[in-house]
Amino acid sequence: MYQLIRPLLFRFDAERVHHAVLNILSNSPLAKLVGPKSSEVEDPVELWGLKFRNRIGLAAGMDKNAAALGAWHDLGFGFVEIGTVTRHGQPGNPTPRIFRCPAQQGLVNRMGFPNLGAEAIARHLSSRKVINRFPIGINLGKSKVTELEDALSDYRFSFEKLYPYGDFFVINVSSPNTPGLRTLQQTSALEPIFETLQDYNRGQSHKPLLVKIAPDLTFEEIAAVLGLIEKHGLAGIVATNTTLDHSGITLKETGGLSGIPVRGKSTAIIRFIAKESAGKLPIIGVGGVFTRSDYLEKLDAGASLVQVYTGFVYEGPGMIGRLLNVSG
Ligand SMILES: Cc1cc2nc3c(=O)[nH]c(=O)nc-3n(C[C@H](O)[C@H](O)[C@H](O)COP(=O)(O)O)c2cc1C
Repeated sequence: MYQLIRPLLFRFDAERVHHAVLNILSNSPLAKLVGPKSSEVEDPVELWGLKFRNRIGLAAGMDKNAAALGAWHDLGFGFVEIGTVTRHGQPGNPTPRIFRCPAQQGLVNRMGFPNLGAEAIARHLSSRKVINRFPIGINLGKSKVTELEDALSDYRFSFEKLYPYGDFFVINVSSPNTPGLRTLQQTSALEPIFETLQDYNRGQSHKPLLVKIAPDLTFEEIAAVLGLIEKHGLAGIVATNTTLDHSGITLKETGGLSGIPVRGKSTAIIRFIAKESAGKLPIIGVGGVFTRSDYLEKLDAGASLVQVYTGFVYEGPGMIGRLLNVSG
């Protein structure tokens, strides 16, 4: 069905379609109508003391402001990662800022973290309308107006504000569209962030804290991040964000590339992390998952949970059932 509608959707600007779909999902029973029966997407797993009804999650960036949590549940997802949320609400980069490259089944985006900001999103999540049916991760980033040297205070502010509402948290230092953000992946910048957030975390209920990395890091750089993760007792890693390597596509737009072109790199990094950590560090694998075999590839490489973004845009809502092998 979605394959029939897709050519029509793809005639419009990608972000306009995105907002229209999000609007429909959050304001209508569509997800309930087209989604699978709950029993069909049961493949339960427990991690960090949290119960996941299946291992497939919605990746960060799709629902930055947590507008449609109920709909993601109705569509069969096992969990969702909202955000990226920044301390200050911000509009992001000028539009257009999401581009399709259908020949390679990829997307290029330079969104720049448009979102309502930590306080507004905390207020929204505290409202009774928001469901609490599956684990919700909150992805945290740095506001554009905050100097890179002050990034730590931004992460800390958002972490504290949103703490009561997330089941796990992800420190995002890997989006390519906030100038300088990726330099925070260097251990000298990353360590104070890990240290400060874990300090706060230990004084609270000690929720799982993860870090999300770029696929453009070298294995040596990833090994350094893993050392810090171990030292500061982080709960896991999200691998990976979008790539700046556009060698596989002909589209000439700047931004992070996702989808099939990042799939192999993401899987190789997951495999590396699993080997380096002797399989002990939980990995959320993300990057280019479209089919059941892509999903199994991520699990085989060592991922405990798997997220999708670009695959969902190309494959539509029936995808979750297909990944779990319950519907055609
Ligand atoms: C339009 C778009 C916006 C994104 N926004 C974010 C974001 O705000 N924060 C983040 O951590 N990742 C963001 N991502 C990255 C995805 O979460 C994911 O890591 C990446 O796209 C690779 O997965 P995929 O190939 O399944 O899309 C975004 C991706 C896309 C395509």
